[in-house]
Amino acid sequence: MNEINENTAVDYGPLTLLIGDWQGDKGLDVAPEPGGREENPYFESLSFSAIGNAVNAGTQKLAVLRYHQVVSRKVDGEIFHDETGYWMWDASNATVMHSLAIPRAVCVLAGGPWATQEDAGDRVSLLVAAKLDDPDWGIVQSPFMRDHARTLEFRQEIVVERDRLTYREMTLLDIYGKTFEHTDANELTKVQ
Ligand code: HEM
Repeated sequence: MNEINENTAVDYGPLTLLIGDWQGDKGLDVAPEPGGREENPYFESLSFSAIGNAVNAGTQKLAVLRYHQVVSRKVDGEIFHDETGYWMWDASNATVMHSLAIPRAVCVLAGGPWATQEDAGDRVSLLVAAKLDDPDWGIVQSPFMRDHARTLEFRQEIVVERDRLTYREMTLLDIYGKTFEHTDANELTKVQ
């Protein structure tokens, strides 16, 4: 059986710097609209909790963070994006994984390799990607979304330097009869 062991000896590897609560108000969302696109400046809160190891098939050991992201439009303060999931570190394969779910009935499992030499101790850069029908890192969506607002691809980079976190992500959509690069980026600081 899979298990989550909460203990203090867990090594979260490159995910360690993510742990904690973050806030940022420099966000910019570019999203599709029937006639073209909309741009939404936003603020958000993002929190990562260390939840221990998950052991798969008795052999694979993952160090796991659970996260929750809440994004609000600057123009009216309304929450317009809510996202949750896990970041997982597989030390044996030097692989970072990000599973996410959004309440549009879309789920993504993105992954990517991580090389130790890329980063110094107080800076880390995480790159993950997923593609529809990719056998390794894929996308699952409802029949409606598949037929009317299909997610084709997801790419994300997060950089953490001490108490500053920046990210940029691109979700490639097939919507309103064309492909659209739906992008989001923000800069956050750690809340003490
Ligand atoms: C900060 C992150 C994000 C924000 C602020 C955001 C915001 C938005 C907005 C404003 C729309 C247009 C909605 C409308 O026209 O009614 C949209 C559409 C969409 N987003 Fe996002 N999004 C984010 C991330 C994501 C991610 C990570 C995914 C999936 C991997 C995703 C998937 C979609 C899809 C499939 C649509 C098309 C639905 C539609 O427009 O009818 N978004 N998003």
